[in-house]
Amino acid sequence: MNKQQLGLAPAMPSDGLLFGADYNPEQWPRESWPADIALMQEAGINLVTVGVFSWAQLEPSEGQWNFAWLDEVLALLHAGGIRVSLATPTASPPPWLGRKYPQTLPTDAQGHTLWYGSRNQFNPSSPKYRAAAAAVTEKLAERYANHPAVAIWHVGNELGQISYDDETACAFRRWLMDRHTSLDRVNEAWGTTFWSQQYSTWEEILPPRNAPYIGNPAQELDFKRFTSEQLVSLYRAERDIIRRHDSEHPVTTNMMGFFQGLDYFKLATETDFVANDWYTDPGDKQSWQLGALTHDLCRGLAGGNPWLLLESATSAVNWRPHNVAKEPGALRVDALSAVARGADGVCFFQFRQSAFGAERFHSAVVPLAGPETRVFREAAALGAEMAQLGELAGTASQALIAILFDWSSWWAAESAARPSDKLKVMDQLMAYYRPLLRHGLAVEVVHPDTDLARFDLVLLPNLFILAQEQANALKRYVAAGGHILVGPFSAVADTEAKLATGRFPRILSDVLGVSGEEWLPLAGPVPVVFTSPDAKLNLLDIHATLWSEDLELHGADTRTLAYFGCGRLAGKPAVTANPWGTGEAWYAGADLPGPALESLVMSAVRAAGIEVPVPQGLPDDVEAVQRGDKLFLLNHGPTTRSVVLPDTTSTTSTVTLAPHGATVLSHKRNRVHS
Ligand code: GLA
Repeated sequence: MNKQQLGLAPAMPSDGLLFGADYNPEQWPRESWPADIALMQEAGINLVTVGVFSWAQLEPSEGQWNFAWLDEVLALLHAGGIRVSLATPTASPPPWLGRKYPQTLPTDAQGHTLWYGSRNQFNPSSPKYRAAAAAVTEKLAERYANHPAVAIWHVGNELGQISYDDETACAFRRWLMDRHTSLDRVNEAWGTTFWSQQYSTWEEILPPRNAPYIGNPAQELDFKRFTSEQLVSLYRAERDIIRRHDSEHPVTTNMMGFFQGLDYFKLATETDFVANDWYTDPGDKQSWQLGALTHDLCRGLAGGNPWLLLESATSAVNWRPHNVAKEPGALRVDALSAVARGADGVCFFQFRQSAFGAERFHSAVVPLAGPETRVFREAAALGAEMAQLGELAGTASQALIAILFDWSSWWAAESAARPSDKLKVMDQLMAYYRPLLRHGLAVEVVHPDTDLARFDLVLLPNLFILAQEQANALKRYVAAGGHILVGPFSAVADTEAKLATGRFPRILSDVLGVSGEEWLPLAGPVPVVFTSPDAKLNLLDIHATLWSEDLELHGADTRTLAYFGCGRLAGKPAVTANPWGTGEAWYAGADLPGPALESLVMSAVRAAGIEVPVPQGLPDDVEAVQRGDKLFLLNHGPTTRSVVLPDTTSTTSTVTLAPHGATVLSHKRNRVHS
């Protein structure tokens, strides 16, 4: 049980689904605010994030406060029945702070100051920045803790800033003392006998600034951990201030899905509920799949509790090099995908499109052309639908399949000078996830420390770091009847990114019944021959194209499910399965093309005894997700699609999905045919 379930933390409002947007009234004349609120009501908006970039309006010069405008905005919103997610403005300090206290500005790895004139111009380790951020948070919390409009507190914005300056170096040293307890242990953990890097005093230790050649991977890993924890501590500091004034309303911050800069498993435990920003790329036909995976990460981060999509776009963004607009209908389909995967609300960046500033070409609920537009009409229609779906609020959405993911492992797996830059953690994660998505199977992306007992199948695609205790837990899980499928280049390193000596993956080789002596990135495609009687697989020409491993079986009952067809590994195992206790452990020592990986993943699903909602697989572009008693059928593509659905009387009916169309059905069973 987590703190929400135990009733120890304030929860997200659950009297219906939330529907909203960022509202930046400071960009518009005061006279237009009442009309904005009327439009919010028309669109069914019930939540707006306010104040997120308004530090300079609140504190125009040091210690001079101006809350009159915010008082007025909050009063108007409250009178209009719109709840407020009140943001601390600490993601964009005013120019006076940077000018007067340059140490509050971040420094990049080359030693250059990153100046004001944009946003994120703060140094997470600067005591002066922290004091200024605490002061504005205190003022806000003190003033608005009991304001009837305030429903949620929103700390900062998309925390993620890094700095390599001297104050950061001091904070890094303190963090290292805490983590490693002595300089000797830092030297030991970082392997500083390599290239004469041994440190003789703490003062010599620096953030990994630009250096002439490849850096120390353990130092880089620790710096990423440190930076992530600094950002979490910024969050915590503001949250604690708010909490002193308001113990009733939940506090959160907006995450960015698979963002590399912050370990969201750590941040999630500090938030009262998980909130995330996700921007589908309409120019990329597969982007919705990463969206689904990101929502399933939120499901995992939230421990099955509802979470909130705090930002998304009604149409185009402006920060990709080429910004394709959403097709008509896609706004709804994207939003419902999040709701289906456990979101108790969907919000947009932003309510009104800016006429000036860096985001003036970004879409919004109300475009510059006004409310008589397709985008506004679609947003308003979605608002009405969200109100109808209100009974979903608060419904848990847990899955039977887990994917293990760990930020430290991701950082370490992609450090410089590795066997292949082409083996990428996110690519592997998506490759293992796609078959589950295509068969309508729910997934939770969870940390390797999670208690796995409630899952029937656990996937470890390219989980580079695995701690001994985590490996032990996995073995106990399999022994007790669980199933695991481990992808290539997993369990290779310990928590300090040190490689295990001995055959790999050493700490899992017993449960897997297989181990290897060489990782062999490929120069070209190598055939992989499946031994299974699966007719589909026998028809395929299957090749590994970037990765192979020189493996040998050593379990008494280990089976070779596939072997390399030619080359230096001809006849050697590529994919294996091993019984262990009452469960089974599968290993893939090669990258596999989509259809072969699909067959492998689905074999593991069947071996785990999981009922497959869509045994034949969904048509391209279609997503099918069950939440509560609702079945969401979503078509993310430009072609009409049909899904065959057995009803409770065991007759079947066909559901036709228009291009970028969606149907939400009351449907207790979760079996769907296509
Ligand atoms: C992020 C930020 C917003 C805005 C949007 C634009 O999500 O949090 O302030 O910049 O991107 O897409």
